[in-house]
Amino acid sequence: MKHIAAAAGIAALSLICMPLMPSTGIPALLGEAHAAGYPDRQITMIVPFAAGGPTDTVARLVAESMSKTLGQQIVVENVGGAGGTLGAGRVAKAEADGYTVLMHHIGMATSATLYRKLSYDTLKDFDYVGLVTDVPMTIVSRKDMEAKDLKGLIDYAKANKDKVTVANAGIGAASHLCGMLFMSAIQTPLVTVPYKGTGPAMTDLLGGQVDIMCDQTTNTTKQIQGGTIKAYAVTSAARLDVLKDLPTVTEAGYPAMSVGIWHGVYAPKGTPAEALDKLTGALQVALKDKNVAARFAELGTKPSPDADATPAALKAKLEGEIARWKPVIEGAGQYAD
Ligand code: MLT
Repeated sequence: MKHIAAAAGIAALSLICMPLMPSTGIPALLGEAHAAGYPDRQITMIVPFAAGGPTDTVARLVAESMSKTLGQQIVVENVGGAGGTLGAGRVAKAEADGYTVLMHHIGMATSATLYRKLSYDTLKDFDYVGLVTDVPMTIVSRKDMEAKDLKGLIDYAKANKDKVTVANAGIGAASHLCGMLFMSAIQTPLVTVPYKGTGPAMTDLLGGQVDIMCDQTTNTTKQIQGGTIKAYAVTSAARLDVLKDLPTVTEAGYPAMSVGIWHGVYAPKGTPAEALDKLTGALQVALKDKNVAARFAELGTKPSPDADATPAALKAKLEGEIARWKPVIEGAGQYAD
């Protein structure tokens, strides 16, 4: 009896002395022990844009495959608005237990400068799972646009700058960034129309309610191949197998518009290491999944290699991209708030 009392006393003492997890107050060891059986229920993957867009497409493909490895369903939840910062903020404040993750892209880096009053600290409030894919963008328009090539589109935009409309997914979105590069390349500001994602923006482009968009191939490839929208250039260094006739922006004379939309998976700061390791492992399996690779290829992109699907690679990418885009954004002097 005495041994049990003594053991209970030591356990209680060790609980009191244990370092507290920064976000929840649950003693770290209990948190880690809990993570040892991780995952024991479904996981939520927040996509900070509307359903049906490119980020959503990437997330659902990866989540479906990761679910198989983890043995628990990863449910994608779309939290759109403010160029992706509302969804990112949701994850920054979520329980750091491994059951909420974020699928985001280059906007995670650009928003750190574009939004001067973010509800979270981009570099302090997240842990890292890994990079996922780097998606090219395409400059597209409604299908009845008169222009025949990128130069013709630019000439048309300059001549009609007060009425031409450019769709994007809000300040901080990839479409916003690419739209900014387009407007700075042509030295002409155009009227922009923000949506909660380029999924809904595509609906209006198809209907002719908006004129131009710069959007990821994961959302435009099928429409371009089907002739329901017109394409002018792709922002990758080389032409894409799935869009062989589409010149690069460099071939078209606008190398400054080259940009890749890298995507990564994040978790709230303080997520147990055991959970992060399992998430990274499942991500690496998903990126080698033949179905994921085939769907990515159909959509003009490819999975990140194992070396990039790691917390260190994502952390380095995010830090480097914040440093790269900060002077560009500050030079343009355009902020979201
Ligand atoms: C973007 O422009 O950042 C994305 O296309 C938004 C989305 O995934 O809908």
